[in-house]
Amino acid sequence: MPHSRIAGTGSYLPARILDNAELARQIDTSDEWIVSRTGIRERRIAAADETTSDLALKASRAALEAAGVDASELDLIVVATATPDVVFPSTACILQDKLGVHGCAAFDVQAVCAGFAYALATADQFVRGGMARTALVVGAEVFSRILDWNDRKTCVLFGDGAGAVVLKASEEPGILVTKLRADGRYRDILCTPASVAHGGVVGTPFLHMDGQAVFKFAVKALAELASETLEAAGLPQSELDWLVPHQANIRIIESTARHLGLPMDKVVVTLDRHGNTSAASIPLALDEAARAGKFKPGELLMLEGIGGGFAWGSALLRW
Ligand code: UT7
Repeated sequence: MPHSRIAGTGSYLPARILDNAELARQIDTSDEWIVSRTGIRERRIAAADETTSDLALKASRAALEAAGVDASELDLIVVATATPDVVFPSTACILQDKLGVHGCAAFDVQAVCAGFAYALATADQFVRGGMARTALVVGAEVFSRILDWNDRKTCVLFGDGAGAVVLKASEEPGILVTKLRADGRYRDILCTPASVAHGGVVGTPFLHMDGQAVFKFAVKALAELASETLEAAGLPQSELDWLVPHQANIRIIESTARHLGLPMDKVVVTLDRHGNTSAASIPLALDEAARAGKFKPGELLMLEGIGGGFAWGSALLRW
């Protein structure tokens, strides 16, 4: 059975930077509060005419170029997003068309901030099972569109962006282990509880979060998952070279790093500049670190994400 390997990464951030000082002029918040509670200093906001598939397209083109793969070679496109362009068709189908290719399998994965972990695990299984040899896996979001910009408890936390990887079938692993978890009993602590029905929007189309409940759940679930992932690969904690975590809160990231015995210079942190970009945060961080030359061939990386659902997941891979 072949393995899957990351052959190239790419990402894209919208041009507009919204920093904490600008937010503090609009709502009752401060740079000091946001930085000390979350680690976030600024985030990007998509232009009015920029859609999730537009961001995904730019990230995908960069990943394809880095992998030396032409879009026509793709036999699978998986897009992780909780902010799709429209209810349907999938953002993956729209992205496929924008890439100028037609015919390969394309679908979205909806696991909110765990979306990239879910999408990567799905594509990995397609490659291992022989259903795909070259896959594009994307995390792309425009969370700025589902935020109540008067709600200081949520609007300071999120940003827009996209990240992508190209996976190729390979004799050498690649992705060693993926783990996916969900617990729908916690679906109300982080949600955007609206639907489209009868010609209108039914319910609240803004993100709602019980921050403390999410924080507690995330710290525990991510620590347990990190241990389970290493155990499944039969590798000790000391073998791990890098943590590429979902970028929600620096205190959650530090807690996972402590649990793994990793110093913070072995943890990829981008949330100070990106905020929480949901499904895009892991591939954005991965691409930034890869392009900075941080990962050496053969190094062991752990990717971990968690969010609404509740859903969480991980991937352990050799670079
Ligand atoms: O991506 C999915 C995963 N998401 C996460 O992992 C997020 C997890 N949760 C968190 O990161 C944190 O819970 C938050 C950053 C959201 C909040 O931090 P906290 O330390 O849990 O603060 P809190 O909600 O307990 O609020 C403390 C105080 C409250 O004031 P009172 O009631 O004590 O007077 C809030 O009203 O801070 C207030 N507050 C703010 N103050 C200034 C809440 N938001 C703000 C704000 N600026 N933006």
